[in-house]
Order: sequence, then structure tokens, then C-alpha cells
Amino acid sequence: MTDLAPEAYAQSDYFQREKRSLFAREWLCFGAAGQLAAAGDFVNHTLGGWPVFAVRGADGAVRGFRNICRHQGMPVLDKPTGQCSEIRCRFHGWTYDLSGRLIKAPDQYPPPQPMEQIGLDAFELVEGDGLLFGRLEPGTADRPTPVALGAGRYEAAVTTDVDANWKSVVSSLLAEPARLFVWPNVFMFDRGEVRVARQIVPRTFSRTRLIDLLFTSGAAPAIAAIESEAQADKKKAEALQAQLAAGAPGPDAPQCREFRRRVEADCAAADAATT
Ligand code: FES
Repeated sequence: MTDLAPEAYAQSDYFQREKRSLFAREWLCFGAAGQLAAAGDFVNHTLGGWPVFAVRGADGAVRGFRNICRHQGMPVLDKPTGQCSEIRCRFHGWTYDLSGRLIKAPDQYPPPQPMEQIGLDAFELVEGDGLLFGRLEPGTADRPTPVALGAGRYEAAVTTDVDANWKSVVSSLLAEPARLFVWPNVFMFDRGEVRVARQIVPRTFSRTRLIDLLFTSGAAPAIAAIESEAQADKKKAEALQAQLAAGAPGPDAPQCREFRRRVEADCAAADAATT
């Protein structure tokens, strides 16, 4: 296989291609269903580089929306997590209910059509094994890959920001095969009685967030140990990023080669389907 070019780890053009051809079409892990325990709970972050959020509705269903106000395209939510009874855009006050419908607009900013015809842009969000999976483009990948999370309850999330392209992060974790990789953005591993689902969240072409979702049916997780492990992984990923961006070949382990092959093959297939 021809290896990915150094630019694939450092240039925004490649990231835009991956957003369009890979992330928009795959089921991506969004978070834990337990993060949205009650009506009005929301989680706001990115899915494959796009700003999105999920909120539990008054009917108990979890829905996903692009974090874009239908008035002038500003973000409707700014906090990463929280609780709300309605979703009010802070810019001009357009307000949506928990199912995304526009329900209020100030007189000075009237909607251009009847309010009931306006709603936030939704994307598909499903629950599987205690995790939430989102897909931005309908009708592409079949369904989320099962992750076999087990019966543990959601306890906490540990977030770590990494200055590296998402492929460097995945490659550095794959180079140590002690964790199970679930294509394309989850690693599963156990630490004592705690099962960790680690989301790899691409934010920009050079920034990636690790979100360790911790589940347990026994003792409370040792958060400090999980944080310390994530910090060590961050350093490894950033070191690999520097090497790859400078033109070094990717890690030679078979699982790393297969990962790079699949990234390129999936992007090429999507490119071919759209030309
Ligand atoms: S952009 Fe949201 S109310 Fe104007």
C-alpha cells in the first residue's frame, strides 16, 4: 500500500476531505446515553468536525441537531453540557423546544415563514450498548458497529485535548494493541472494574479530543489514574504527529497499516461515488 502522504497529517484540505467522505457517512460515537439522563439534558460538541448537540426531549427520546440557529446561522448552544427546558439562541432570541421546533421569536426578528415550518437541522442519532451514535448523512453506512459495552452504568467522562491530527491519535493507540478499536472512532478497554469507551473526536485537522466515557457496575472509577493515562497517551500521539507530519512512515504494525488503508479506501470510494 502507498502510505498516506505527510500532508494527510498536517493540511486542512485532507481534513475537509475526511469530513465530507468519511465522517459524514459513518456512524460516529457521540457520547454515552447516560450523559442525557433527564429531559432537557444536553451534550454539545463536534461530530466528525461538525458542531452538533444532542438533547433528551420531554418524551424521553434523544435527538441530535446541528448547532446552527435557523435565524442567522450562529450557534444556538455554547456550553458543552447542561440542562434546559427550551433552547434559546443568545444572539437574537429565537427559541426552540426540545424537539427542535421554533416556538418563539422576538417581534424585531420575525421568522420569514410560519414558525411551525422552521426547526433545527436534525441528524440521525441512535442508542446502542449505552452509547449514542450519530450519522450526519442519511442512507450511508448500515448501522453502528456493536461495542459490547456490558451492563455497567455511566459514571463520568474524562476529556483530554491533543494537538495532533485524529489519524495520529488513532495510530499511536493502535500501535499498542491492548485496546479494542471499533472503527472509526472508539477504543474499548478495561481498567479494573471500569470499562472505558474512548471517543476520538476530530475537532480540526490538527486538534483532536479524547473523551473517556467511564462505565462501572462495581467500584467508582479512579478518575486520577484515567486522567494520567490519557495524558500519557496525549504525549505519545503528539510525538507521533510531529514525526508523521515531517514525512516519517506510519507505525508498521498490521493494525496501523490496515487503519491507514481503510481511511484512504473509504475516502476514495466516497469521492468516486460523488463524481
Ligand atoms: S442567530 Fe440565532 S436568533 Fe439570530
